[in-house]
Amino acid sequence: MNKRYQKHVFVCVNERPTESERNDCARCGGKDLRIKLVNLVNKNGLRGKVRINKSGCLDACEKGPAMVIYPNEFWYLNVKDANIEEIFTESVLGDNAIESLLANEDDFQKIKERRSQ
Ligand code: FES
Repeated sequence: MNKRYQKHVFVCVNERPTESERNDCARCGGKDLRIKLVNLVNKNGLRGKVRINKSGCLDACEKGPAMVIYPNEFWYLNVKDANIEEIFTESVLGDNAIESLLANEDDFQKIKERRSQ
């Protein structure tokens, strides 16, 4: 199968109205994280091979900023500036998951529970 991109990263930059009580990834840094990844892609000559897309809500707002990297489907939550270089090196250039950031079923279950309170 011919792949359009070697890696396709979706970084949540969803923004809710300021009066909203729900968190959003724009508020907790998603936009800056995306720009940092875009800059790393460009700096490494990967434009056209790796795509860093803005994403709407990835339904993990309580643990944002959130992102997902395909084709490996690595879901990363609570991503910080300090994680970006490692994410790029390990999961964009490489195919390695960063266990400390990787979301699991328990994370999504906790998000669901928090919303139902
Ligand atoms: S606002 Fe980013 S996951 Fe919902």
